[in-house]
Amino acid sequence: MREFKEKFINYADSFLVGDDAEDQMIIVKRDHCLAVAELTLELVKSVSESAEDLRSAEIAGLLHDVGRFKQYRQYRTFSDAKSENHAALSVKITEELEFLAFLPEQERELILNAILWHNLPKLPEIQVLRQQVLAQAVRDADKIDIYSVVLDYYERPELHETVALDLPDKPEVSSDVVAALIARQGVSMTSLQTVNDFKLCQLAWVYDLNLPRSRQIFVERNYMERMFKLIPDFPEFSNICQQLNDHLTGENLNDSKRRK
Ligand SMILES: [Fe+2]
Repeated sequence: MREFKEKFINYADSFLVGDDAEDQMIIVKRDHCLAVAELTLELVKSVSESAEDLRSAEIAGLLHDVGRFKQYRQYRTFSDAKSENHAALSVKITEELEFLAFLPEQERELILNAILWHNLPKLPEIQVLRQQVLAQAVRDADKIDIYSVVLDYYERPELHETVALDLPDKPEVSSDVVAALIARQGVSMTSLQTVNDFKLCQLAWVYDLNLPRSRQIFVERNYMERMFKLIPDFPEFSNICQQLNDHLTGENLNDSKRRK
């Protein structure tokens, strides 16, 4: 894995241009990939002891966003809507650079699917358990690390724009977005009008966490309370917060009961 990680880091660093602001965008994504690799490994470890599963986990986590570097260089944005699907681009780069050449065919396929599906609004029905766990773990790990990145950036407003998809930082929240949260559903990226909508969309990710360990990590890192503090109050907000907390802690309670 050490050599594999070095190959990834060398590839990411080849996009550095020597300008601090520009390079920061590349470094944030590089470090995100490294963190997602660690987290995907931790999540898969919580349900599997197979050495092959753990190897696939770390590799899929590391490569899930490998297309981001080219996306930023080519389009100057991380918005897929304004450029192209970065998951498909990540699969393309993974194949072009033969990152997975040393792996058996079947494992390559598991990893490429997990990369391709990581940004879908919803995962397709997956029959193969190893594939399901890997795809779920990459999606959960991605959300867990993005939370720490965005919470950090929301506290440094000068870098908001890229993190928040170039949305205007107005006080409003959109009724579609609020309705989705009340219904405990994910928020479609196309309904986002403001940075606050984006924050609410990220709160709704809680409903799309797959693995019990992922929900535990959200609780351990106190992500909800930190995000709640960054959103101005509106009439339905306290209800939404309560539902989100109930979902996280309720699930955790059930999980610990199940273990007993
Ligand atoms: Fe991604």
